[in-house]
Parts: sequence; structure tokens; C-alpha cells
Amino acid sequence: MAVLACSRQAGTTVGSSPEVEARVDKLLGQMTLQEKIGQMNQVSAGGEVSNYADALRKGQIGSILNEVDPAKINEFQRIAVEESRLGIPLLVGRDVIHGFHTVFPIPLGLAATFDPALVEEGARVAALEATAQGVRWTFSPMLDIARDPRWGRMAEGSGEDTYLDARMGEAMVRGYQGASLDSTSMAACIKHFVGYGAAEGGRDYNSTFLTERQLRNIYLPPFEAAVKAGALTLMTSFNDNDGVPSTGNTFVVKDILRGEWGFDGLVVTDWNSMGEMINHGFGTDRKDVAEKAANAGVDMDMMTYGFLSHLEELVKGGAVKEKTIDKAVRNILRVKMLLGLFEHPYVDVEAARAVQYAPEHLASAQKSVEESVILLKNDGVLPLKGGRILVTGPLADAPHDQLGTWAFDGQKEHTVTPLQALRARFPGRVDYVPGLRYSREKRDNFADVTAAARRADIVLAFLGEEAILSGEAHSLADLNLVGSQSALLAALKATGKPVVAIVMAGRPLTIERDLPNVDALLYAFHPGTMGGPALARILAGEVNPSGKTPVTFLRTVGQAPMYYSHHMTGRPYNGETLLEDIPLEAGQTSLGNTSYYLDYGAYPLFPFGFGLSYTTFAYSGIGLDKKVYGADDTIQVTFTLANTGTCEGTEVAQVYVRDLVGSITRPVKELKAFLRVSLLPGESRQLTVQLPVSELSFTGLDGKRKVEPGDFQLWVAGSSQEGSPVAFAVQ
Ligand code: BGC
Repeated sequence: MAVLACSRQAGTTVGSSPEVEARVDKLLGQMTLQEKIGQMNQVSAGGEVSNYADALRKGQIGSILNEVDPAKINEFQRIAVEESRLGIPLLVGRDVIHGFHTVFPIPLGLAATFDPALVEEGARVAALEATAQGVRWTFSPMLDIARDPRWGRMAEGSGEDTYLDARMGEAMVRGYQGASLDSTSMAACIKHFVGYGAAEGGRDYNSTFLTERQLRNIYLPPFEAAVKAGALTLMTSFNDNDGVPSTGNTFVVKDILRGEWGFDGLVVTDWNSMGEMINHGFGTDRKDVAEKAANAGVDMDMMTYGFLSHLEELVKGGAVKEKTIDKAVRNILRVKMLLGLFEHPYVDVEAARAVQYAPEHLASAQKSVEESVILLKNDGVLPLKGGRILVTGPLADAPHDQLGTWAFDGQKEHTVTPLQALRARFPGRVDYVPGLRYSREKRDNFADVTAAARRADIVLAFLGEEAILSGEAHSLADLNLVGSQSALLAALKATGKPVVAIVMAGRPLTIERDLPNVDALLYAFHPGTMGGPALARILAGEVNPSGKTPVTFLRTVGQAPMYYSHHMTGRPYNGETLLEDIPLEAGQTSLGNTSYYLDYGAYPLFPFGFGLSYTTFAYSGIGLDKKVYGADDTIQVTFTLANTGTCEGTEVAQVYVRDLVGSITRPVKELKAFLRVSLLPGESRQLTVQLPVSELSFTGLDGKRKVEPGDFQLWVAGSSQEGSPVAFAVQ
């Protein structure tokens, strides 16, 4: 079969220049081996700066993390710059994952916006706030594709889809680093390289067993896109893939990242992931794992002290070449120079204060929530009409918990909760009875809440999981609403009053059993600082929800992993009988011969890309400019989108493609483009999407990325489960 080749980019990925390279070389030429190794050491800065003074003076620290006090950061820098022999400034890192002080929705929530421009704006806000305080390096974006909601870190990424993840990742890189590098640029760190989100059973830190083709077709493309977007740094992951821990994985770091993609940024380990290679049984001791990491192409050691303690000996013994060290140090110095740290190592402590929680930052955070909230059900009760409102549930007034995971610097005093916002918006109309103070609380008597519900015209129940129930090391095996939250909903429903559930969570919870007990359901993830005002505007109908699921919502946890872009099996689901329809009598020899669950069928609760609106949309006239395309062509997809309802709204139109026959089996659908379109009631617009044929490429049996000629189908729809395909071919 003839194949069409696709080209790759060459040159510096971080945008270095001959001048920068000359400066790097000159400095490197002045460094002793010990000073070089010192640059490769990153430490966590707890306590007094003076504790680190000696090591700083000796040039034994290249970077610190976890210090955000601008005065202290200045002091760290002062010792490094003024009291060490070569005066090399420190790179100061922090997990600024979804905002610094102004906290944005968790990344999974941001992905639900399908709005890369807005996500870029949010990352810029985070960079402005963090860099003002001296933080010049964030350990974000997390690009791990996650298809198992048991994994607590699903909260930190963009969900299950490679294309969406890549677009969000590039946007964050651009936002953190800015259009050109200056004193407000915060180096992005794309993580966790690679496959970490595929942890078996969704148990954090667990092994992964991804084939090279899965890596190349699903897990690597977002990293490659972020490298092309100019990401300055990358972090290796904790997991071992098919037996090789990432921090010692020459194939992915050296061959793919450095070799194929030409990445000349800085590679840092995850926290002690070098040391953990001993726990993995991949190395005997710290010296052994330091050798493996250095030779795999890792530049900086986060918190193992393996490089600092053993690299000199390893170089002298010949196990690690000095040119390997030189390469690593070049990568580190290059980033420091590109960030302008040599020219401007200090920050203005007074000015830093004024930048935090600036009104425009809060407005941007609020807009992000407004676009990220997903309307999953609405039996006509939303937007709110007049009357009394009962606010209840453990997340109604939980200023810390609505911030979500990795919100170290968001202060809960600045959070506006839904209760506060609703009281301000509907003065005198809001009653509050928490029902449950914590999500995990167990209670069987809800007399106080139900009495209040009877006095109200509508009930708003804020449920879900607190920040601590998702994130790193916070995997769950049961994804139903915890504690007595489902019982609370059932009790509220029994009052006969309309019930709206607003779920805040770090993952898609299995809320099927609760659906009959709610008249409307909004999914808000952990919305951050401005969650309250944004939700109040949505509930009031001032903002029409437009979020779409960035991940499949399961009916039950036993369906995991379930994602829309699965490959076609030899026995695709054809509507076989479900267990509940099969008579109890004996004599049944087979209960089904296709790919589905006897008890839960073949479909999720809500598919990827799904989300309702207060209005309705209709797609029509989907057409392509040609029937047959060449490899270098761009497909012009045209369609008409109409707002067929009675209020203004925004739809995320999604373009999916299926490659019908390949040299390997292909996904049943893959997202290839999306756009947000706002329409007035009754308005309809003809829209065009440009889809380069090269986007249809994949890595086949020969390990090469290419577009295979053949027949394709294309959908334009409001979710991954809607629409009818149009056909085209690639020659
Ligand atoms: C996490 C990383 C994080 C690092 C530094 C690790 O435990 O896996 O994502 O960036 O800590 O805080």
C-alpha cells in the first residue's frame, strides 16, 4: 500500500539563538565539574533561607521549588548571584497548576470549555501573578491522557482525548511563557513524560503497559505539540512503562524527545522519581539510578540528591561522560538565559502585591468557570424563575474545597462560594441548610433540610467531593457520590420541590443513580476562586452553559476505562439483550455475543463532548469541498449551525473523523477540530473548518507516521455520539 510521508520540524525548540548559545558556552567553559553538577540539583525550599546559604555559595543548587515569598526568593537569588563564584541565578519553581493566587477551574474543568484562547488567557494570568513574586517555572501543563476516572490526577489534565489535550497544552504553554520571553514569562513544564495517566486500575503511581504504537498515537502527540509550541521544560513521570521507569527511559527521553523532536529544553525528574527507581527494582542504589537517569537524558534531579552525591564519581569512573553533563547544564543555563534571569534575578516585593487578585484576573477566572460548567440535565427548571431558593449540600459554602487540587497559593478568604454569590444576587430569597457538612458525612435524618425545602420554590444542592478526594495519590475505587449525598437528594426529591444538583468534583463521578432525583444537573468540577459568581449567573440565566464533557461519564465504575475513541472490535455491539430483559428460567446458553456489559450495556452515561444548553442547536448542510483529497490538501468542512431555541447560546461544534480501513485497526472516531460558536435565538450561520489531511496521520506497523490512503467518514456534531457521517477519500 502506498503511503504518504509527513515532515518534521528541525532546529531549536525553545527558541534559542547563536548569541544565547555563545553565552551558554562561555559560562560552561568557566565551570568546574562540581559547579556543573550543582546546576543539575533541585531542592525544595522549606524554612529559613540561611539553611541553604552554604550550598548556594558553593553552587550546589541550580533550582529551588516551593518558595513563593518574594522577599525570600530575592534573598535566595542574592546569595546565588552575589555570593557564589559564578553568580548563576536560581530557577524558582512551583506547581502553579490552575492559577496562582487567583484560582481558575481545575484543568479538567478548563478542558470542558473547549476554548484554548481562554485557557491561554488563564495561564497568562497565572504567570503574571506568579512571576511578580519570583516564580519563573511552573510544573504545568499536565498532558497525561486519562481514561480511568478512578485515577485522582485526572483532575489535573485535559481528560481522555489526544487532540483536545494537545490544544489545551499548547494554549497553556503560550499563556505561561507569553508571546515572547520577558520578565513575566513563567517556563512551562510539560508532564508527566510519559503514559502516567494510564496507571493500571487507576491506582496512582501504578505501572503502565503501553505499546510504542499507543504511545505514538495517543500519549505522545500532546507532548510533541507542546514542544512545538516552545515549552521550555519537561518532567519525567513516576510510572514504569512495560518495565522501564520513565526517569531511566532512554527510548522516550533520548530517542524520541531529544532525537526525534529535537527538544533542547530542560528535563527534570518528578519528585524523587530518580530515587524511586530503586523501589521499582530498576537500580541497586542512588548511584546506580543517578547513572541511569543521567544517561537517559535527564538534566535536573528533583529531590533525590542522586546527581549531587554521585555524578562526580560517575564521571570520574567513566560511567557518565562529561559531555553528557555539559549537555544537561547547557539545557539548564539556556532556560535561565532565555528567561532573562541573569539580567533580572530579583522582583519588586511591593509591586508584586498589587498584581495578585487583580480585578481583570478575577474576571478571567469567572469567565473560565462560566464556560466550563456543563449542563447535563434540565427538565425545564433552569434558569431559575422567581421564588424562594433553598441552598444545601456540603459544597455550597466550602471556600477551600471549591479551589480543587494543587491550589497551594489560592487563599480561601478570596474565594466566593455559591452561597455568598446567591445571597448577593437574590437578596432575601435564599435559605441555607447545609444538610451535610462534609461529602463523606453519614446521616439518615434530613428533617431540617426537607422542612426548609417545603418552604422553598426550588432547591439547589451543591454536592460532590472535596478537593482532597482527587489529585495526586487520591485514587478512588468507588465513584458514586460519597457519604449520604445520594440519600440527601432522594429526601429532597420526595418533598416534590424541583431539585437542581450542582456537582463539584475532580473527576466524572458515577451519578446515574442520582439522576432520577434531580430535575437539573450542572457539573462544575472544582471551579476555583470565582466559582460562586459564575454559578450564580448560570443559575440565573444570565450566562447560558456551554461546557462539554472532556471525558466520558461512566454509568458505573466497572465500565472503566471507557472512552469514545476506542477501536472497532470484531464483534461490535449490536443491541444485544441486557440481563434485566432475560427471563430467569434456565436453558439460556448465551447471553450475548458482542462487546458490551450484560448489566450495563455498551454506552456511558454521558459521552465525550456532551453538554446541554438553555437553548437548542441544529446542524445541517454538512459538506466537504471535495470527495477525494491528496496528502497535502486541506479539507474544507462547511456546515450550518442554527440556534433553534429561545435564548442566546454558545455551542461547541466538534469534527470527528473515522479512517475506515487501515494497516492497523483504527479508532471508531477521533476528534480533529472544534469551534465555539455563539448564536442569537433564531440565528443560523454557515461555518467552515479547515482540516489538513496531515491531521489524519497515525503511526502504523512500520513505526512511521503517515496518512494511509482510503475511505473516511466525517461528522460535525454537538458530541461524540451524535450526527451522521459524510464520506470522503484520501488518495
Ligand atoms: C508531582 C508533580 C509535581 C511535583 C512537584 C510530584 O509529586 O507528581 O506533578 O510537579 O511533585 O511538586
